[in-house]
Amino acid sequence: MNMYFLVYGLILSAGLLLGADTAPTFETAVQPILAKTCAPCHNEKITSGELNLGPYAIPGSIAQHRDDWQKIVQKIRTGEMPPRGVPRPSPAQVDALVKFVQGEFIKADRIPAASRRAV
Ligand code: HEC
Repeated sequence: MNMYFLVYGLILSAGLLLGADTAPTFETAVQPILAKTCAPCHNEKITSGELNLGPYAIPGSIAQHRDDWQKIVQKIRTGEMPPRGVPRPSPAQVDALVKFVQGEFIKADRIPAASRRAV
């Protein structure tokens, strides 16, 4: 019985450690690309294409501004943004961003719109 709890505990903590290392977050998968690659042309003062990405630099914006985020992901995934000549994120970074944002869409779909508005 003790052995069972010991093994279970080890597996659980290993899982938590791995999870903390590998699970992408807004801060690791999205924010750095927005800040490094996009913000220079899409900020409060320089709004290329009439777009300031400042308000999208918070995790909650993905569920709140889904249409905009779909456009942002589309531009990055197709390679349309950043424009030619600007250093772009690696394919792995793009992949992580796309996956994270899509994951947030899926999560948002599980929350009824009514309760989302209250939060
Ligand atoms: C060198 C400047 C520059 C950089 C860097 C840049 N953009 Fe743009 N972006 C533009 C310009 C100029 C336009 C408007 C013309 C066009 O659509 O090509 C635009 C348009 C857009 C639009 C369309 C806006 C609309 O409503 O039609 C989106 C979305 C966008 N950019 C997202 C991004 C994202 C995301 C990044 C970072 C991965 C990024 N951009 C990086 C210059 C830039």
